Amino acid sequence: MKILEPIKCKNLELKNRLAWTPAVTCLADEDGFVTDALIDRHAKRAKSGVGFIMVEACGVNRDKSPMLLRLCGDDYIEGHKKLTDACHAYGAKLSIQLIHYMKQSPRNNWKRDIADLSKDEIDQIVREYVNSAVCAKKAGYDAIELHVAHGYTLSSFVSLLNKRNDEYGKTTAGRCKIVTDIIARCREELGDDYCIGARISGEEFVMGGNTLKQTTVIAKIFCEAGLNFLSVSGGGKTEDGFWYTGYSGERCMAPASYPLGLHLYLGEGIREVCKDYGVPVIIAGKIPDLKYGEEEVLARGKADIVGVCRPMLADPEWFNKQLEGREGEIVKCSYCNTCMDRDRAFEPVNCIVWEKFCAKKGVDPYVPLYRG
Ligand SMILES: Cc1cc2nc3c(=O)[nH]c(=O)nc-3n(C[C@H](O)[C@H](O)[C@H](O)COP(=O)(O)O)c2cc1C
Repeated sequence: MKILEPIKCKNLELKNRLAWTPAVTCLADEDGFVTDALIDRHAKRAKSGVGFIMVEACGVNRDKSPMLLRLCGDDYIEGHKKLTDACHAYGAKLSIQLIHYMKQSPRNNWKRDIADLSKDEIDQIVREYVNSAVCAKKAGYDAIELHVAHGYTLSSFVSLLNKRNDEYGKTTAGRCKIVTDIIARCREELGDDYCIGARISGEEFVMGGNTLKQTTVIAKIFCEAGLNFLSVSGGGKTEDGFWYTGYSGERCMAPASYPLGLHLYLGEGIREVCKDYGVPVIIAGKIPDLKYGEEEVLARGKADIVGVCRPMLADPEWFNKQLEGREGEIVKCSYCNTCMDRDRAFEPVNCIVWEKFCAKKGVDPYVPLYRG
């Protein structure tokens, strides 16, 4: 099976081509420290054989956001080290998705804009990313993934909707400057061998936002800046102040009514650019099973690595059951997005389909694998 073929992101060798794409768990504690439940979540996917565990969005500073994981100082490293050790034990490699976000309030529809940021504040963001990246390396992560997707700070910079009139706007290179600065500074601190990746929205799906026309240029700029993998998502722009609503929000975690593989064309377009630089592309979005991943994604050159998220919330053994020919036993994701609703409510992000299945069988859905 092609999915079992190893692949390298620069010097980082992945044992197979399946990535568990980042999914906020709301399992960190109130201050963003790693908990045993959070380790357990990732260790279970590692045990199932996933080659690349892309750990959820993790704050680069201490700004308030309930239950969001953090890695922004030495005090956070010990917990993350337990997490990386637990997953490494199963041969998985791990990246951590580093996120910076600005204030937004769903209640009064108020959102801070990147146009408001001073040069000092931009420099501060760069410093926070570098600090967090250094902590990530110390904590045993094999890679960092810069969150340049969806509606957050870095994605707002690279967007065509960035109306800054200084060196951080005006041209595509200007809009990308904060990210290329972060890559350069992280490279200095982490060394040539360390794997630095990013996630972008291949298309923003908002009026006046990026389409493949811009994101292929952005991908080229990132590759030239020394990026080692590019993960492609879609949409996720918050237009009305409430997370992941509207068309753009829906595209990101597409519900049942959307077609399978809805972002494959984005993976294909961006891979066209990245392959000249030897930079692997990961694509996610309603890839329901390995057969689809092999035939529609890898064989058709839509991406180098298959990214899957919700199906592995619906069944933590989604991968190994298929490898063992036990497809019939898989608890299938219905793309109902209850997981998303729980995320919005800051509740532990678990799957209702999995919980119902376990309830029917009379078993505990969350028997811990990791016992710290
Ligand atoms: C509950 C939930 C939380 C998510 N959190 C993140 C995140 O932290 N960072 C990110 O880039 N994407 C996040 N995503 C998006 C997923 O990584 C993935 O791109 C999306 O769910 C589509 O893949 P799927 O159809 O296989 O689920 C999240 C998705 C869900 C459902």
